Amino acid sequence: MRMRNIPDADERIARHGSHVAIPAALKGNWRDHLHVSGPLHVELGSGKGQFITTLANRHPDTAFVAVERFATILVQLLKRIPEESLTNLAVLNMDARELEVCFAPGEIDRIYLNFSDPWPKVRHANRRLTFRSFLDIYRIVLSEHGDLHLKTDNIDLFDYSRESIPAAGWTIANLSRNLHAEPWSEDNIKTEYEEKFSGMGHPIYWLTATPNRKEA
Ligand SMILES: C[S@@+](CC[C@H](N)C(=O)[O-])C[C@H]1O[C@@H](n2cnc3c(N)ncnc32)[C@H](O)[C@@H]1O
Repeated sequence: MRMRNIPDADERIARHGSHVAIPAALKGNWRDHLHVSGPLHVELGSGKGQFITTLANRHPDTAFVAVERFATILVQLLKRIPEESLTNLAVLNMDARELEVCFAPGEIDRIYLNFSDPWPKVRHANRRLTFRSFLDIYRIVLSEHGDLHLKTDNIDLFDYSRESIPAAGWTIANLSRNLHAEPWSEDNIKTEYEEKFSGMGHPIYWLTATPNRKEA
């Protein structure tokens, strides 16, 4: 993602009512904070936020949290949220590695990974959001029936994830190699990257997965 230098990004974020400065303080209490008793969905690497803000508008009874590690990008996401307009969405300027610090075991019902950075070099594989250490964190914070939804145009990241996810003890429940061609995908909400790459003719790869749970 191209990053503009925004010198006062941190102050702008801090002033916005949707931003949570100390997310660890809300561990276990995200639904109360967002005044929602329904499910809690978290997007990791939200970028400019088209996906999560559209979703939050469409589903007022679901609690949403957007996680983005770069302040300069988060400022652009926050522009999509006029103050007080989306009370079911919280925004965190945080690395996905911190997820377990901020969410209680079993607290999250769905994690979205949309067009995550592919990190093509093997020595950077541990930065991919479907690397084993991330999947082990997702397993802890996901609820009993919680799941992971992944979309990408990057075949290498997709193929890598198709291997890393089962290897970490998860089951891939659904998979498409051309999401936009699926007749059931008409409710699909496009991210900024999705619009760009599908507009260039790239197929969009999609999968959902659930962590295998031990029998009680
Ligand atoms: C390629 S962009 C995609 C943005 C958006 N999801 C979309 O589809 O348009 C990936 C985004 O994920 C963020 N990101 C990458 N690794 C992250 C991490 N470990 N924690 C939080 N955000 C991360 C990047 O800063 C970037 O904004």
